[in-house]
Amino acid sequence: MDNAETFAEKTLAQVSAKMKAVVARNRGIIPYTTDAQQHFSDMYQKDPFWWTNGFWGGELWQLNRLTGEDLFREEAIAVERKLDANLTAVDHLDHDNGFKWGLTAVAHFKDDQDPDARRRGLLAAENMAGRFNLAGHYFRAWNDEDGTNRADLAIIDCMMNLPLLVWASQVEQDPRFKHLALAHAKMAQQLMVRGDGSVKHILVFDPETGAYLHSQGGQGYAHGSSWTRGQAWGIYGFALAARHFHDPSFLMTAQRIANYFIANIPADCRIPVDFRQPLTPFYEDASAAAIAASGLLELAADQPKDAPLYQRTAVRLLQALADDGVDWDKDHDALVKRCSAQYHEPHHEYPIIYADYFFIEALMKLNHTALDLW
Ligand code: GLY
Repeated sequence: MDNAETFAEKTLAQVSAKMKAVVARNRGIIPYTTDAQQHFSDMYQKDPFWWTNGFWGGELWQLNRLTGEDLFREEAIAVERKLDANLTAVDHLDHDNGFKWGLTAVAHFKDDQDPDARRRGLLAAENMAGRFNLAGHYFRAWNDEDGTNRADLAIIDCMMNLPLLVWASQVEQDPRFKHLALAHAKMAQQLMVRGDGSVKHILVFDPETGAYLHSQGGQGYAHGSSWTRGQAWGIYGFALAARHFHDPSFLMTAQRIANYFIANIPADCRIPVDFRQPLTPFYEDASAAAIAASGLLELAADQPKDAPLYQRTAVRLLQALADDGVDWDKDHDALVKRCSAQYHEPHHEYPIIYADYFFIEALMKLNHTALDLW
């Protein structure tokens, strides 16, 4: 066993010990963050449609694989059923169907071919396919909000939602879903990635003609800046596109973003919300570290020549999280501390569920036990 595997085994033993206690005392909920570190707030009760509502299910499937414990599987299926009300709420379904059902229903279907899980996954994929703008070759990201029409927006995060469509094509033996996903990935490759390897967050199109108009700042510091979670979605999303579409040009795009990310990692591995944010105040987003680590490991698996760099960097990021960025107290519910949903918000540096998911997934990739949910 090499050093990375030994580190992963040891850290995953701590994860399982903690998460057995956390899940046992938090049955029937879908968490987003914590309240006073004691209990996950139930994000499903607050907002059944919230984009993060699949990550807890995904984490439970990974933990089931890691430990073999039925508790995690039962809870994962309970989460999947809870999301059913979403499937008919057409005004609330969006491109994040991929995150929500890919990590729940599709994970379940991959586990035991459950027919209800298949139906849920396919409904989610079919709805997502309906969001494709044929003129602009993009998936519309968000729904209208506060009277604002948002038919014109596509975002980098969507790269991670495309695997739902690839799965639907495999299951249905019908390439039409995959064709849409490929068209969006090609658009993103051409328009979202800057020459230096940084990525834009939001693209604005004319939804009638499909003409690309301009980019916008989003959850990062400013227009033209470099939101780190967006960079991480880009690394992982384009690495997945290379695998799913057998297109080495996507691998080169993922590498360009990865190399930019690696060059900007601070010495202490604490990833800022934006690589171009002011030095002070310093706002960290540990979720970007966890997502990038898992994305780099995805890339390492497909790019043998540069694999040592990507694997070494992933281990550095995960080690820094395990040493100082994770709350190992079994009485506290979250794992990864110091995440930030966006730069311009009143609160920063708190636990967020997707950081926990990707932290666990990346560690499990290191010791070759991760379920492939993408
Ligand atoms: N996909 C939204 C986010 O990363 O915050």
